Amino acid sequence: MAVSTNTDRGSWNSKLGFILAAAGSAVGLGNIWGFPTQVASNGGAAFLIIYLICSFLIGFPVMVAEITIGRNTGKNPVGAFKALHSNKFFPLVGLWGVICGVMILSFYTVIAGWAFGYAFEELFLALNMPAAADWLKDTGNGLKNAIVATVFMLGTIKIISGGVSDGIERATKTMMPLLIGILVIMIVYVLFQPGSAEGIREYLLPDFSMINADLIFSAMGQAFFSLSLGMGALITYGSYLNKKENIPQAAAFVTLADVGIAFLAGLLIIPAMYLAQSNGVNIFVDGQLADSTTLVFTVLPALFNSMGFIGTIFGVTFFLLLSIAALTSTISLLEVPVSYAIDEYDVTRKKAARNIGLGILVVSIIISFNPNLIDYFVIVFNNIGLPLGGFLICVFIGYAWKTENAINEMEYGFAGIRQTLFVKVWPIFIKFICPAAILYTLGQTLVGLF
Ligand code: PFF
Repeated sequence: MAVSTNTDRGSWNSKLGFILAAAGSAVGLGNIWGFPTQVASNGGAAFLIIYLICSFLIGFPVMVAEITIGRNTGKNPVGAFKALHSNKFFPLVGLWGVICGVMILSFYTVIAGWAFGYAFEELFLALNMPAAADWLKDTGNGLKNAIVATVFMLGTIKIISGGVSDGIERATKTMMPLLIGILVIMIVYVLFQPGSAEGIREYLLPDFSMINADLIFSAMGQAFFSLSLGMGALITYGSYLNKKENIPQAAAFVTLADVGIAFLAGLLIIPAMYLAQSNGVNIFVDGQLADSTTLVFTVLPALFNSMGFIGTIFGVTFFLLLSIAALTSTISLLEVPVSYAIDEYDVTRKKAARNIGLGILVVSIIISFNPNLIDYFVIVFNNIGLPLGGFLICVFIGYAWKTENAINEMEYGFAGIRQTLFVKVWPIFIKFICPAAILYTLGQTLVGLF
């Protein structure tokens, strides 16, 4: 194996740059396409409460763990585990993360491509070009799916090729504020429309009778996916972080941003769904709320179309928003295998980004022609893969590398850490609470599957 010269590694220019990039990774289709539908079909605020608990009590400690491993070693997930312990098993945990990243990116690009295509679909509809709009709208059209997924992947490769600060940091610094601005404007508009009140009630009034093992499992899976945990994305982003930054504080900002944007997305989409219903659009299929894909790619466009000119502006803006959110996540998904190739095989960044990105695109094209594969990928790599990765990361820090070493690393950038409650509580979460909670939900998933 070649010894990396690391000339292509790079680093963040500023703390804000890191926070926005990590929040950009976290905020994505999971927040806007996934979260609102999960809430609406799982007891409204009851799901929201369990989701918040999972994000702050389980997700946040694991995020701190990942960033700390990354910063201490300055390496990709595989190299990081290798550097910290002689046990040959743990680098496989990093490798599993890289595999999950590759597989998630392959289907994520297809869904992101749908969103991107819909931005133009709305435009073509307004320009009275129904044939072009219909072509873009057909999520079952393999060739169309492959073309838009390719465009999306090429954009991702371009940004990753630019490097950490000039590519990822610069892109996310522009896109994240844009995303928040668009989201807030749309929420204000929707909340003032008659008919949205039922959605708000549905979203914010908890139905506690819905809380059961299934709901907890869904909330945990959603939290892991949404916070980009369990596959080393934050080990990778942490490896570019300066020693003077405060890791627990940065992780808290990222968690808050992710949860906050998921909450806002719910505040937009759930009332919009009920608004669509009051405009005569059907949001239920066989008595059940329609799934994420139907709601986002059928119900919302129907709502936009019933709103006239303002609907076109909203439609284009909404799907651009979704595309931006997806792009800041696809870049973090591609960065994981790219950093692995740069560190471990001494490949240049441009070459790694191009070859790995195009390799993953081949899988995306297969999925484009068989979108039903997405469900299987979600089960294996999201629902099982990410919590499993998170569990193994906790075991690694708690019992192999040891939490004391991690706290020593956190002390750079957080000099007073030993006087805080965090230093007493975090190790307990990493050694006992997080692995036990993750194992419980994973067990439930496996029992449910077989
Ligand atoms: N957090 C992203 C979302 O919510 O859409 C998905 C994701 C990105 C998962 C990066 C994992 C990851 F490493």
